[in-house]
Amino acid sequence: MTVKMKLASAVASGLAGLVALVDVGFASVEKRWALPVPLPPQSVYLDPFSFAVLGENATFRNNSVTDYFNPTNTAAPFFQIFDPSFATEVLGPNPSFQRIAYNPGYAYAHEAPIYMADTNEVYFSSNDGGPLGYSSWYNNSVVSKINMTEVEDAINVAGGSPVDVNIQITTLSLPDTVQMNNGGTGPYYGNLLLVNSGRATLPPNLVMVNPNPPYNTTVLLDNYFGRQFNSLNDVKVHRASGNIFFTDPTYGYLNGFRPAPEIPTQVYRYNPATGAVKVVADGFYKCNGVAFNPSETVAYVSDTGISGGFEGTDQTLPATIYAFDIDPLTQAFTNRRVFAYADAGVPDGIQLDSLGNVYSGTGEGISVWNPEGTLIGKFFLNSTAAEMIFAGPGRLVILDETTLYLAKIQAQGIDLAYP
Ligand SMILES: *[C@@H]1O[C@H](CO)[C@@H](O)[C@H](O)[C@H]1NC(C)=O
Ligand SMILES: *[C@@H]1O[C@H](CO)[C@@H](O)[C@H](O)[C@H]1NC(C)=O
Ligand SMILES: *[C@@H]1O[C@H](CO)[C@@H](O)[C@H](O)[C@H]1NC(C)=O
Ligand SMILES: *[C@@H]1O[C@H](CO)[C@@H](O)[C@H](O)[C@H]1NC(C)=O
Repeated sequence: MTVKMKLASAVASGLAGLVALVDVGFASVEKRWALPVPLPPQSVYLDPFSFAVLGENATFRNNSVTDYFNPTNTAAPFFQIFDPSFATEVLGPNPSFQRIAYNPGYAYAHEAPIYMADTNEVYFSSNDGGPLGYSSWYNNSVVSKINMTEVEDAINVAGGSPVDVNIQITTLSLPDTVQMNNGGTGPYYGNLLLVNSGRATLPPNLVMVNPNPPYNTTVLLDNYFGRQFNSLNDVKVHRASGNIFFTDPTYGYLNGFRPAPEIPTQVYRYNPATGAVKVVADGFYKCNGVAFNPSETVAYVSDTGISGGFEGTDQTLPATIYAFDIDPLTQAFTNRRVFAYADAGVPDGIQLDSLGNVYSGTGEGISVWNPEGTLIGKFFLNSTAAEMIFAGPGRLVILDETTLYLAKIQAQGIDLAYP
């Protein structure tokens, strides 16, 4: 879309706060909007000019994993706005941000969030092989769910958002075919679609899970022509073609619950109509999250290269989301380019809203980049969040390991249901 078309559609959709567009000679959409007055609740505006020059006496950050960017030293959770469009397009006039479940001793909410609209529940998995996950070579991780109707009821009883509530989660008793679940999407024919990292010599796999008791599973794929994958990490369905795309980094080995890698770190495509599996992208340190833009012509893949498990952190490696075109014939991910480099921690799971803004879990919460790859804002948690999911219109559920957060915002997620 051209800037003019975007402006026209924005005007047509009645968004307030439009400012005159400065013609800078290329299609910049940044700062199209005036900052709302007052700012949305729980938010802080950081004009990029306010920290563009810090001066020789400043305290600079030297560790992106432990030193966070919070110049106003605001208590989490809050919204950090770098571009007015984060306020006008993503947050809307009346957002809220709160805890909905927490257990400080247990990282029960790590990855694989799936929203099932028909029961209004969010499914997620505990940390596999990492801190407070209580899972290892010998011990599987677990999948749980939270009932969003109970969450809303409790918030209403407590007087309305934002107010912290602590809702009981339900842990699923899954068959042994699900080992170290790390990625998920759905609903997929009414099921959860999970990718599992495998554990010890038990193979990584792609599995459909009945979301209701007895939680029976159907394994779709557990090898590449007889060879095991390393430790499958994340998955999305390309809805236009029906094909399933998933990533395979080496975190099972790096977190001590899988043998040494025997196959490159790659992104794969599984065709459920034919059973065929093929590689669509390689050349990553650790490919991680995967997602598509709203028109499903662009693929995003994060590379969490800096996080090396027992090998430690190397800040000179990628903490980067790459964008690709999807080749119409082969569906290979082509024309690789840098989309965004996370300023804190690593960009892990990726989700998109209906406007094409890209959300990823990073070292200090959720970062949001506009379709041009400019950071427009953060859901600031002051701790690492790997994943998040839109749980119905205007609700973003954030997985912060020991805590689940709910942000009520204006943005809507793209539809992930298939068919
Ligand atoms: C962020 O977390 C660090 C330690 O994890 C703590 O020292 C710091 O005070 C926190 N910042 C805020 C604003 O709460
Ligand atoms: C195995 O996992 C369970 C929870 O699923 C936990 O209670 C137990 O402590 C774990 N054991 C080890 C050795 O981590
Ligand atoms: C979720 O909670 C609501 C309110 O307590 C309840 O009516 C509903 O049955 C629950 N949903 C499921 C799937 O258990
Ligand atoms: C679970 O079992 C039911 C009954 O046999 C079957 O219809 C359904 O397809 C199964 N679901 C999965 C995900 O395997």
